[in-house]
Amino acid sequence: MSNSLLRIVCAVLLCVTMFTAKAGTTYSENHTDSVYLFCYATNNPKDGAHFAYSYDKHRWTALGGNHSFFKSDFGTWGVLKNMFTPSFAQDDNGEWYAVFGLGESINQFATTLSKDLWLWKPQDYPYLEKGEYFSNPVLIYNKGVFELYFQSNTGAKRTVSKDFRNWEKPVAVTDAAFESVKRYVTISINGVEQRGEIHRVATQTVERLTEKLSLANQRGRSQNENCGDDANRFRGIKCLNARLQINLNDTKAISPDLIGIFFEDINYSADGGLYAELIQNRDFEYNSLDRGEWNAKSFWELKGEGSSFEIAEVNPIHENNPHYAVLTTTTKGASLQNGGFDGIVLKAGDKYDLSLFAKSFDGKAHKLQVSLIAADKVVACTVVSINAKAAWTRLQTVLKAAASVDNASLCISPLDEGKIGLDFVSLFPQKTFKNRKNGLRADLAQVLADLKPRFIRFPGGCVSHGNGIENMYRWRTTIGPLWERKHQSNTWGYHQSKGLGFYEYFQFCEDIGAEPLPVLPAGVPCQNSSRGGHGQQGGLPMTEMKDYAQELLDLIEWANGDARTSKLAKMRADAGHPAPFNLKYIGVGNEDLIGDVFTERFIYLNNIIKEKYPDIKVVGTVGPFFEGSDYEYGWQLAREQHVDIVDEHYYVNPGWYMNNQDFYDGYDRNGTKVYLGEWASWGSRMENALAEALHITNLERNADVVVMSSYAPLLAKKNHTQWNPDLIYFDNTSVLPTVNYYVQKMCGNNSGDQYVYGDLTIEATRDDNGREVTAYNEDADRRINSSVVRDTKTGDVIIKLVNITPFDTPVTITFPETAKLTKPASVTCISGNPSDKEAKHSSSSLTMGTTTTYIMPAYSFSVIRVKGEVLVVK
Ligand code: AHR
Repeated sequence: MSNSLLRIVCAVLLCVTMFTAKAGTTYSENHTDSVYLFCYATNNPKDGAHFAYSYDKHRWTALGGNHSFFKSDFGTWGVLKNMFTPSFAQDDNGEWYAVFGLGESINQFATTLSKDLWLWKPQDYPYLEKGEYFSNPVLIYNKGVFELYFQSNTGAKRTVSKDFRNWEKPVAVTDAAFESVKRYVTISINGVEQRGEIHRVATQTVERLTEKLSLANQRGRSQNENCGDDANRFRGIKCLNARLQINLNDTKAISPDLIGIFFEDINYSADGGLYAELIQNRDFEYNSLDRGEWNAKSFWELKGEGSSFEIAEVNPIHENNPHYAVLTTTTKGASLQNGGFDGIVLKAGDKYDLSLFAKSFDGKAHKLQVSLIAADKVVACTVVSINAKAAWTRLQTVLKAAASVDNASLCISPLDEGKIGLDFVSLFPQKTFKNRKNGLRADLAQVLADLKPRFIRFPGGCVSHGNGIENMYRWRTTIGPLWERKHQSNTWGYHQSKGLGFYEYFQFCEDIGAEPLPVLPAGVPCQNSSRGGHGQQGGLPMTEMKDYAQELLDLIEWANGDARTSKLAKMRADAGHPAPFNLKYIGVGNEDLIGDVFTERFIYLNNIIKEKYPDIKVVGTVGPFFEGSDYEYGWQLAREQHVDIVDEHYYVNPGWYMNNQDFYDGYDRNGTKVYLGEWASWGSRMENALAEALHITNLERNADVVVMSSYAPLLAKKNHTQWNPDLIYFDNTSVLPTVNYYVQKMCGNNSGDQYVYGDLTIEATRDDNGREVTAYNEDADRRINSSVVRDTKTGDVIIKLVNITPFDTPVTITFPETAKLTKPASVTCISGNPSDKEAKHSSSSLTMGTTTTYIMPAYSFSVIRVKGEVLVVK
């Protein structure tokens, strides 16, 4: 071979090697085509399914160390979610199928499937006969049929399925037959004996799993990036410089509704929070389902001698309000007291509406002294009379506070001897938000209004689909007279009076110019439910879904119907709102497991709603994470069913937002839209707020597909939180917005309906052995971002700039030469150290020219609003 030919051959070989290495087919060519795969669950049933591989059945390597490839999603956290003895089979197309046991005395088993052993379908849980239990399964695939052998409390059984979904009634098999198919083996993995099954798989399958594990680890590490490492990260850098070239002629339409809020009754957000009622357990309906130690008397105390306080249920004021108090007085002087939610706050000179239901039990008329007392001082007092009739009467009066106090109690003192019934004792400030009756706490409602949210999603979250079927949120039980509403336990461990019901939610939306986005259960409760069966499996039977679907249709009619022709709309009008509420969206489901039970019910509801109300946008659900089986299968369902919008949720660390800035860039622009219904970055520090601001700049760029978003959770009462962090903390007297709140507020107040493309470049200058070197710096690039939107109504152009670096960074903003900028722009900015929980706020003006330099403070978020009327592009 001549030298030149040799050189050509070598070059070709090198290219092939390089190409092969890039394409990822690395070592398998030297290895056998297939390996043994040991599939097992450990002794800890919460630990899920594991895989280990071996070339020789002697030396086993656990894939991903202790990595669990999927876990049981059956039933309540902690108590259930168990996986016992999984068994696997592969069909002719290479798809994997798995079954596993859920635990003793559960007449169900779990099924799931996967193309690649990595992404597993949301599990289904077929039923066995009542009283029949399932263990030690053996799954066999044979010519299009799945055979499942298992042991039950009534002996060995076999069932078959053609679709891995519908299983025939199991039949008994002999122990010998069961023994002949049994294939468990015990293998020592990392020194621990594990019981499982050995399968033969293509070597590439294991390689791909290894690659996925390493990618997942890498992603995990990048999520954990934080500003604490900035000294190292930016070592040697003297300064950063940014240039932003704005191209006003390169635009796209985006959703004007990007920033909204998600109100859930979590952390005492409703009763004791936004809902302005001052009496706790006003209807004597607290009970142990709300919280183990509570009962109908909770938060009421009888003080003084000579009286007794009992709870009765005969002839209540309404069947939905079955309990009431009976006060029997032998010597006057005692009083029944309620300290509200951590004390009642009163403001000197303010008026409070007091109402209560009362009836006489002894045929005599009675008088009650009703007072508000703090530290033994009377702050307000009046007397109400009960007539001699044995019928419930609603008594109403107004109390005026003589002093400002924050720990008052309401005291009800009979002024004579006898026996009376009391129920629904309510005390409301007259000064509610917009002075509405049965209204909202003014300061809290105002801080929400200040966000200028374009929509409100309510009533939850987990509260919406509820803890078990009986706890699903049924909107019809939340309207009408307060004492006829159906109170219910809150899945977060307290009580929902439903005083803040759908009428009040819709009214609040209207009061602050936000679109209502009610979310109703998809006919299934939370998959993690602890009551009424095993989670989502306790979904409404399909035979009841017609009536349930009607409930959803009724909501649309109640909200939008003509009160002159529709009974439901008349209810809305009678409650005080004759005009339609103009509902445009309805959410169906929340973070549900996208198994068969959910899928069947969701499709049913979506079709019925779209058939009757094609213009109403249905918002589906795709699970609690930005990836994984509910996300993938939820999206698949959405695509197949052409769902209008899906609700994505993710709570992740700041690093995720920095490293996933193109998350939505590749989403299909012509299909289902996204509502990012719950998101946050696990913290209330500047670093978190800035990561969230960074994400919003990326959401704005993608707001042609991400049409709405809402931070979660929204409100949290101090000392009553079930979830941290939250956007706004409060107690009875103060409202404490977090730094994250100010990011949402700056964005809510500066939204646009047009995205303006721009070009942002970042350069870092470092001293390199005495010379100054300026170059692209990836870390800086990931931490500085901009987004430019235009509000076509005002013509204003709004520039958002995020700087999550320790450098005050000048950004040179360039508009096209033809732009006329004659008025100064307004600038709002928050900045602070990454660990600060308070931000420095500043507002200023900036003289704008076609080229303007603005200095982004270190660790800051700035919004520059350029006035529309002075901006002319010829
Ligand atoms: O926002 C708190 C909870 O997080 C919501 O109720 C639920 O949807 C999610 O898991």
